[in-house]
Amino acid sequence: QDLFLIGVPFSGGQPRKGVEEGPVRLRKQGLVRKIEKLGYKITDFGEMTVPHIENHNISRERVKNSVECGTVAKKLAQEIAKATQEGKLSLTIGGDHSIAVGSVFGHASVTRNLGLLWVDAHMDINSPATTKTGNIHGMPLSMLIEGIPEFPSLPGYEWCSPCLSPRDIAYIGLRDVEPQERDICKHLGIAAYTIDDVDKDGIGVIIEKALEKINPDGNRPIHVSYDIDSLDPKETPSTGTPVRGGLTLDEGIYIAQIVAQSGCLSGIDVVEFNPAIGTEEEVLKTAQNTMKLIQILLGLESHLKEAPLPPVD
Ligand code: ARG
Ligand code: MN
Ligand code: MN
Ligand code: MN
Repeated sequence: QDLFLIGVPFSGGQPRKGVEEGPVRLRKQGLVRKIEKLGYKITDFGEMTVPHIENHNISRERVKNSVECGTVAKKLAQEIAKATQEGKLSLTIGGDHSIAVGSVFGHASVTRNLGLLWVDAHMDINSPATTKTGNIHGMPLSMLIEGIPEFPSLPGYEWCSPCLSPRDIAYIGLRDVEPQERDICKHLGIAAYTIDDVDKDGIGVIIEKALEKINPDGNRPIHVSYDIDSLDPKETPSTGTPVRGGLTLDEGIYIAQIVAQSGCLSGIDVVEFNPAIGTEEEVLKTAQNTMKLIQILLGLESHLKEAPLPPVD
């Protein structure tokens, strides 16, 4: 199958420098070679050109860097729409999660009946009206979903309008949710599975429930937006907003595996790897585990095959 690969070295959706280095760091780790090994023909866009963010910490607007974030998302949306129309599976490597406005919008704009699986510790559904931090990586879903109340216009996002209904979305991995996010999600009726749900029912039941919500007949195209902070910080320490008590690596991989096996995957984001956070060992671990998730999403049969157990005699 044809795969469209695009790196988005952008960090303006949040305050910490370094998340823009994610794509190049994963390439150094052998990203392209590993994808090719799985049998894909890659159209490699390389890294998108993005506006420079001068100083993350002095931005004084209530919503930070909105023109920059909106411009990046618009450009990404155009590229993803084009690739999707050409029948390619798209893989977007972030960068912070604000870029998903672009990848999801672009994907949905040329795909009928798109479903979205959002794997994250966070809901990322604050609107410009409810955000406390002003960081746009906490807001992408508010721009994509119909029915967000009192949505003020946001400079840079004039091109964007809601493209998904609340029924088209499911979350897995939630554990750092703000009250206003919980309320809006409840009000809209979005399927939301928390870490408590995973602990109680097991990842197998939860992924089945989530897919049943967004893809009951197994025939809808699915976009997966995978924020690596959904995993426990022990597995992916190099990320900007880590939250304890996350998915184990095996649970994270299991989600990827079931989605891959559904045969419905048509667009992927992998976001929030920040190689400037943590020790070199932690960065390496995060890169390796992120790479594993990508490989499994793209159909690598089992992560156990990569590291066979030593023979027993
Ligand atoms: N809810 C917080 C906010 O609105 C944190 C969002 C974290 N998002 C992320 N993509 N890591 O800023
Ligand atoms: Mn997150
Ligand atoms: Mn657990
Ligand atoms: Mn996120």
